[in-house]
Amino acid sequence: MAGNVAGQENPYLPQIATIKKIVVETGNIKSFYLVLNDSRHMENFAFEPGQVAQLSLFGVGEATFGLANSPTRRDTLQFSVMKAGEVTSALHELAVGDQIGLRGPLGNWFPYQDMKGKNVVIIGGGIGIAPLRSLIQYMLDTRDDYNEITILYGARSPQDLCYEEDREEWEKRDDVNLILTVDKEFPGWDKRVGFVPTVLKEVAPSPKNAVAVTCGPPIMIKLVLQELEALGFKDDQIITTLEKRMKCGIGKCGRCNIGPKYVCVDGPVFSLAQLKQLPDEL
Ligand SMILES: Cc1cc2nc3c(=O)[nH]c(=O)nc-3n(C[C@H](O)[C@H](O)[C@H](O)COP(=O)(O)OP(=O)(O)OC[C@H]3O[C@@H](n4cnc5c(N)ncnc54)[C@H](O)[C@@H]3O)c2cc1C
Ligand code: FES
Repeated sequence: MAGNVAGQENPYLPQIATIKKIVVETGNIKSFYLVLNDSRHMENFAFEPGQVAQLSLFGVGEATFGLANSPTRRDTLQFSVMKAGEVTSALHELAVGDQIGLRGPLGNWFPYQDMKGKNVVIIGGGIGIAPLRSLIQYMLDTRDDYNEITILYGARSPQDLCYEEDREEWEKRDDVNLILTVDKEFPGWDKRVGFVPTVLKEVAPSPKNAVAVTCGPPIMIKLVLQELEALGFKDDQIITTLEKRMKCGIGKCGRCNIGPKYVCVDGPVFSLAQLKQLPDEL
């Protein structure tokens, strides 16, 4: 249930998780593969694509991250962390076998049930691909439920693209249209060049029977929303996530509210139609 913390009587109390694997994705992004120490809680950790969790380092602090793997591939709980400040830098220092705190799953999720039978256009930039990867993996594992799947994913440079193994899988499949782009030309790069919103305009996916889901830096999201509207996507065909800073994660502290909505329980996933009903505080 949105806003609940699985297996926890006290929702502020983190569960202890052990790092089983670390993948260095880029110069400033690492993926952490975690398993909850309590096997019963690990088995009962029911999450949905788009939900988040609070990861904590004792004596350092707590920060919010999207679950980056699909619940259909849940032998570990995966988080991709970009180095930004105190907590994320400390996380980057950890090694396999180290223990951290985890509170979650928190928040709502991508409306993947409503997307069944539709063409799905995924638009990700930078670390914003993390929660989208969960949705992509989910749709690929239930492929028959969805129509065409287009993935537009951009980063600054080829070295800034995450999830090499997933990209290879997506590239090989003939039921996925993968479009990769980087901001400028790089030696050896033979794919697209250009910012994500510009490439979206060039690719021009049809809004007919389609849903677009986007996550990335705020400026990218702003321009992507404009492009999607220009392409004819209606407000309820556009889904995005908000990165509003969180504290409690369970609708109690008021840290994350936008007007009457708490991003931690009513979000982080919103349709553009829902966003347009919120006060302009972003
Ligand atoms: C719903 C949600 C999902 C997220 N998912 C991911 C994810 O999957 N992977 C990931 O790497 N990051 C994600 N983030 C961002 C992540 O929570 C922050 O990068 C992290 O909190 C930074 O913590 P820190 O202690 O390292 O940085 P701090 O020391 O707290 O801050 C470093 C700098 O970054 C700024 N900052 C930190 N967090 C934010 C924020 N959320 N918005 C704007 N400015 C901020 C601070 O003001 C400061 O300037 C998500 C955030 C939210 C709210
Ligand atoms: S983070 Fe406390 S109310 Fe949302």
